[in-house]
Amino acid sequence: MAKKLAVIGAGLMGSGIAQVSAQAGWDVVLRDVTDEALARGKGGIASSFEKFVAKGKLEAAAAEEALGRITTTTDLDAVADADVVVEAVFEKIEVKREIFQALDKLAKDDAVLASNTSAIPITKIAAATARPERVVGTHFFSPVPMMQLCELVRGYKTSDETLAAAREFAESVGKTCVVVNRDVAGFVTTRLISALVVEAAKLYESGVASAEDIDIACKLGFGHAMGPLATADLTGVDILLHATENIYTESQDEKFAPPEIMRRMVDAGDIGRKSGQGFYTH
Ligand SMILES: NC(=O)c1ccc[n+]([C@@H]2O[C@H](COP(=O)([O-])OP(=O)(O)OC[C@H]3O[C@@H](n4cnc5c(N)ncnc54)[C@H](O)[C@@H]3O)[C@@H](O)[C@H]2O)c1
Repeated sequence: MAKKLAVIGAGLMGSGIAQVSAQAGWDVVLRDVTDEALARGKGGIASSFEKFVAKGKLEAAAAEEALGRITTTTDLDAVADADVVVEAVFEKIEVKREIFQALDKLAKDDAVLASNTSAIPITKIAAATARPERVVGTHFFSPVPMMQLCELVRGYKTSDETLAAAREFAESVGKTCVVVNRDVAGFVTTRLISALVVEAAKLYESGVASAEDIDIACKLGFGHAMGPLATADLTGVDILLHATENIYTESQDEKFAPPEIMRRMVDAGDIGRKSGQGFYTH
């Protein structure tokens, strides 16, 4: 019998996770708070499948079958028979804690309760439940159907069984996992990109090199697909500033102290591609 997955939040990440899971044979129930959000999420999945079919990467029949494995609901009770629950709602700790409190009452005893948070310590989310050993981070990357990585994050009380079950789930949907053994702020990936962007911004700020040259150095010198300042513009200078401030607050490690230029760019609204101006003009 197909395994059951419940995804909470039908936004960018939740719908991506639902999509790859349904394609891999999971029965998926996608839950959001409004019918509009669910329609948008499922519509996005359908059009993504269409693109894969048009490119010859997926059979039309397989796409239709996968789409048919995804049901939608506004009712959280739908998690009751799920083997794995993945939460992908807004990055707000209060919202996530409220959901995990409810999941604790509704989900099966042996269900894996996972959060897709990019930065909130799993331990803080797990503490909202009476079963913190069953709570784990499954940090997928955007766009989920294209990006291979899933960062598995252990909270303070996450059990080995839960981590193994989370790995089994992520691998079953085609991802390669890396394990974060302690839920330090920013995990591994956000810490690495923050450190690189902060240093790149400092070099740029002090006139050591131009934005273009810093990015070319990383691309040609280290084989990075994209330079750190172009990455900051794509992700949003505001998003990276926020992530870096969080890591700095938790770690008190000076290398994460956000440079003045990033703070002033955000104050001025020069946050990257979405505003038309960041380290580059778009
Ligand atoms: N966007 C990214 O690139 C990215 C990458 C990795 C991880 N993340 C993380 O994934 C999570 C989701 O991010 P996103 O970009 O998909 O956000 P999003 O804004 O696209 O979607 C969030 C969805 O959650 C829904 N929601 C809010 N409260 C809810 C509730 N109580 N029950 C059910 N649904 C609810 C909203 O209606 C919305 O549809 C966040 O924790 C984020 O940090 C995002």
